[in-house]
Amino acid sequence: TAIYWRNTWKYQARAYRHLFWDSGTMLANLLATAGALGIPARLVTFFLDARVNRLLALDSDKEVSLELVSLGSAAPPAVAPAVEPISPRSLPLSSTEVDYPLAGEIHAASSLVEPDEVRAVRASAMGAPRAVPGSLLSLPEPLPVSGKPLGETIIRRGSTRQFSGQPISARAMATALFHATRGIPADFLQGPGHRLVDLYLIVNAVDGIEPGAYCYWPEAHGLERLKGGDFRGQAGFLCLEQALGSDASVVIFFLADLGPILERFGNRGYRLANLEAGIIGGKCYLSAYGQGFGASGLTFYDGDVVRFFSPHAEAKDALFVTVLGRSVRGTPSIEVPLQLAKK
Ligand SMILES: Cc1cc2nc3c(=O)[nH]c(=O)nc-3n(C[C@H](O)[C@H](O)[C@H](O)COP(=O)(O)O)c2cc1C
Repeated sequence: TAIYWRNTWKYQARAYRHLFWDSGTMLANLLATAGALGIPARLVTFFLDARVNRLLALDSDKEVSLELVSLGSAAPPAVAPAVEPISPRSLPLSSTEVDYPLAGEIHAASSLVEPDEVRAVRASAMGAPRAVPGSLLSLPEPLPVSGKPLGETIIRRGSTRQFSGQPISARAMATALFHATRGIPADFLQGPGHRLVDLYLIVNAVDGIEPGAYCYWPEAHGLERLKGGDFRGQAGFLCLEQALGSDASVVIFFLADLGPILERFGNRGYRLANLEAGIIGGKCYLSAYGQGFGASGLTFYDGDVVRFFSPHAEAKDALFVTVLGRSVRGTPSIEVPLQLAKK
């Protein structure tokens, strides 16, 4: 679930998309943990919003359910048991709150109301794999395992507040990109190899890769070169004039052609595209910290990002940004409680 105010106090109505980046970041951790424990996990994004909100006793003017995850593989019950309503008391986050009604309006406009609507969108899971262009720059083989165990990686992960500008290796970047894009077990995707979002890169400092703008093709694990050059200044500007964008080794911009996505899923598609970007971004965080470097999620200037990557990105929308690089503080050294790092 998400409480609007936790994001709207800072980002106002634009916070709506943050709900999906943030929950995607958390889901990346959950899916990785389930995978490590061998527990089948499946992300459920098509559900009757009001029913789930009621089940959780949410005050849906303030807090709404975003996604469900099914864990394990038990047979479904023949009849769903009746669940009594609950009414927990909660403490207010702030003494006063500002309402940004647009967030609630887009949530209502992308909610599923009738069981038939849920069945219909479930049947529309995303379709045809992409046609990969012919001449790609091939990337190094990704590392099969990172240096750290998953539990330690999740505890150490955080958002790098300042990058040093130092390079990472092509193999480190390739490892992050490869493992972050191996598919998501979700009801809106037909299977691995299907995706809604595209990954555009500004390479600032990656050893062995010419600085420039690229499109990453997960299907072929290769880069399509868009233009060469030092774009550090533009990268910082595009990331809402934050030095994180210019000091990172590589800036990953998630874009999508929302037209066909909205056609397929209705307004729900807007949530899904942002969510997929958030999950891939979250996996990039894990891969970065697992390999001993840093990452951060970022906001950006929407139209300028699309213009920078055009004509390739024409007609697409910018959704989210994740940056990878070396922290000025070196490898994060947070104390890891041993009982959490061990079984
Ligand atoms: C999805 C996402 C988007 C973010 N956007 C920004 C941003 O635009 N600027 C920034 O300085 N930090 C950004 N951050 C970093 C957050 O401020 C930071 O994550 C937050 O303080 C929570 O801490 P943690 O990620 O270290 O656990 C973002 C982080 C995430 C996960």
